[in-house]
Amino acid sequence: MTVSSPVAKKRSDYQTPDFLISHVDMVFHLDVVKTRVITTSQITRNGQHDRPLVLDGESIKLVSVALNEDAIHDYSLNDEQLSIQTTESTFTLCVETEINPSENKTLEGLYFSAGAYCTQCEAEGFRKITYFLDRPDVLAKYDVTIFADKERYPHLLSNGNQIGKGQLDDGRHWVKWQDPFNKPSYLFALVAGDFDLLTDNFITQSGRNVLLELYVDKGALDKGHHAIASLKKAMAWDEEVFGLEYDLDIYMVVAVDFFNMGAMENKGLNVFNSKFVLADAQSATDDDFFNIEAVIGHEYFHNWTGNRVTCRDWFQLSLKEGLTVFRDQQFSADMSSPVFNRIKNVQIIREHQFAEDASAMAHPIRPEEVIEMNNFYTVTVYDKGAEVIRMMHTLLGVDGFRKGVDLYFERFDGQAVTCDDFVQAMQDATDIDLTHFRLWYSQSGTPKVTVTDTFEQSSGRYTLTFTQSTPPTADQAQKHALHIPFKFELLDQQGMSISDDSVPELEAKMIELTQAKHEITVSGLSEKPTPSLLLNFSAPVKVDYPYSHQQLSHIILHSSDEFSRWDASQSLYSRCIHSLATAPDSPDEELFDSMLVAVSGMFELADSNPALAAAMLSVPSFETLSQQVDEIQVEALYHAQRSIRNLIATSLSEKWLALYNKQITGPYQYDADDVDKRRLRNLSLSYLVQGDSPQASELLLAQFASADNMTDSLGVLKAAQYGPVDQFDHLMFQFEERWRHDPLVLDKWFALHANMERSDILARLPLLLSHEKFSLDNPNRVRSVLGSFAFYNVLGFHAIDGSGYQFLADYILKLNSVNPQVAARIITPLTQWQKFDPKRQELMRYQLARIADCKTLSKDLIEKVTKSLN
Ligand code: ARG
Ligand code: ZN
Repeated sequence: MTVSSPVAKKRSDYQTPDFLISHVDMVFHLDVVKTRVITTSQITRNGQHDRPLVLDGESIKLVSVALNEDAIHDYSLNDEQLSIQTTESTFTLCVETEINPSENKTLEGLYFSAGAYCTQCEAEGFRKITYFLDRPDVLAKYDVTIFADKERYPHLLSNGNQIGKGQLDDGRHWVKWQDPFNKPSYLFALVAGDFDLLTDNFITQSGRNVLLELYVDKGALDKGHHAIASLKKAMAWDEEVFGLEYDLDIYMVVAVDFFNMGAMENKGLNVFNSKFVLADAQSATDDDFFNIEAVIGHEYFHNWTGNRVTCRDWFQLSLKEGLTVFRDQQFSADMSSPVFNRIKNVQIIREHQFAEDASAMAHPIRPEEVIEMNNFYTVTVYDKGAEVIRMMHTLLGVDGFRKGVDLYFERFDGQAVTCDDFVQAMQDATDIDLTHFRLWYSQSGTPKVTVTDTFEQSSGRYTLTFTQSTPPTADQAQKHALHIPFKFELLDQQGMSISDDSVPELEAKMIELTQAKHEITVSGLSEKPTPSLLLNFSAPVKVDYPYSHQQLSHIILHSSDEFSRWDASQSLYSRCIHSLATAPDSPDEELFDSMLVAVSGMFELADSNPALAAAMLSVPSFETLSQQVDEIQVEALYHAQRSIRNLIATSLSEKWLALYNKQITGPYQYDADDVDKRRLRNLSLSYLVQGDSPQASELLLAQFASADNMTDSLGVLKAAQYGPVDQFDHLMFQFEERWRHDPLVLDKWFALHANMERSDILARLPLLLSHEKFSLDNPNRVRSVLGSFAFYNVLGFHAIDGSGYQFLADYILKLNSVNPQVAARIITPLTQWQKFDPKRQELMRYQLARIADCKTLSKDLIEKVTKSLN
């Protein structure tokens, strides 16, 4: 793990592999401290050259090497590579390695945790199993035989189909798997353990029967039904929307407690963080149910976008992730409320992706330079990547997009390709020129579209001017104008969308911005219209237009696009919050009054469109607000947001109480109507507590006692965070008593403690870390305490004495030697110092420098820390 001075790899340095591997035979003799792996590969020289065969390998012991069955010793070996000089052009290489899975706390490669063996190979974990050409453009067929003790590990799993099994006299058994599809090493998987098994089946559109198997912890079978049902929905959806059918006879999903990420799409054998599989009414929230469906969908969709067509190199990660996130977003939207889903997607961009662009880690969706690939599984590559795909969907239309995807598979099935290949297929299938559009792949940063308008009463001429510019980012100074599909409409005073067939952009409700400046003119208007801009967030950009609050209220009521109605509500709140933050002593009463009028109107939507109402009645997060200012004034902004919420709470307390009382649900069901009701109920509860309503305590206690589901229980605890600390502590104590046996529920409890606003937070964090259920080895626990604190406890983390930063840094230094990947993830808030005041910048940089001083820092942290200190 210790690397003296890691070197960055560059996208432009890509070279085709010197050797190709057509077939791999692997034999695993599993043992907790001494697993032996025998890998026999069929290798061919790729082209005419006499370079050596250089295999990747890391943290493993080389036992032996044989070439065409003859043992060889004249290889050269260092910490990262095994080089073999040979003149053969086609040969068999047999490598034997030894691994210690229980010592492997990085959760990458083969590891042993909670009594089971598990692998994680993306991006470069296969090299921790054997010496190999561990790069995604080397595709091979795999046979895998696993030997292990039968009693402890009754289930031995790998990719593809089971083709043999047997029993040995010494209590061990073996199973042999064969994957008929070519795949890169990162899609390899092995799992061995004792699980409960839930099975089901799915008949594909061509009539094939696919066996579905879900492996969960012993005793957790009842919590697997939602995941299986979600999988079947995803399979049907991909057939219907993209014409894509599953290609093996078996699809396995394993849920494990120790996992660095959400889940992994290994061919035919997905491995999931149990958080994205297990759910029942008592222990999982509506959000958990939602996320499970989304992540199950995501991994399933990877079977085509990622596995059948994969990435040529890791710089192309967005090829599979941006596209697959887009697909899972469309799936979720079809399964529930489109507007609610769109709002969720956009919140991620505005809270996290814009922040990444503004930080030292800024990178394009297709990065140019990488030290540690694991650092690039980012909101930029994933979520901005999905926005880029969505813009193509907008430009090409539903049918054009589908044609493009069809052509992409026709051309590239079974290959490892680039983002350019994808865009080219979209272009060739539709004849829509995407040459300029490609710049989205190489240019980083958040574009800003500034819109101004003029209206000439006498002639009725209205002119809209669009100007785009992208501020420089840490990685890239020069920016160019992008191809931006910018949707908009003009509303008249009645709230009707104005049309004029002599202005094609107005008819299409979209202008394609390609230059720094564009102008459109509409004539013959009797009054100045209100422009409703960036409908449905048609591009990942910031928009600047000098709205009056009357105009925002008008859009809230009348835009034809539900997303934009919500967006206008958020702009109105933001305006109130920023105005209060900058002038706390002279509140703009007129602005606040018009905001309150607008809010009180939103209550009327609660019956007809509860999902939209709930979203509109919520004010922007601190993270979103932070991205709207040049310099974040922590206390002022935080308290202003709090005051505006209090104002909404107290001024409308009767409406909140009425809304609360109206949300009546029967026994728990995860269905759209009930989800909406619970959302409105818990939102109301939270406002009632914030407004110090006389009924608040009683309602909290009553709901806590009667709740038959986790959404409502957690709703109480979240609302109680705004009330008296004693009451919060008391409820949390009861909750812990009831749930201490359930780690996934306890994570929610840890997180609530860690992001609670209280003056003694830094004294309490160590208590959480010494909780008997807390473990440094488990990423879910680390994220729930440290992640929640650093990302969301605004006043605690940004305490002006620097104690919050120091606390995080201390912990990162500990985690560095245990799990570098997770350490590098939770350091993110420290790397985003650029937008804070000079004093905090200095404190944050001081902690980054302390981390940088560590002599045994992982590559993961070196990359992020050095970038942040430059
Ligand atoms: N491909 C996985 C997914 O998006 C994520 C794998 C993350 N791996 C990593 N090393 N960060 O579904
Ligand atoms: Zn993915």
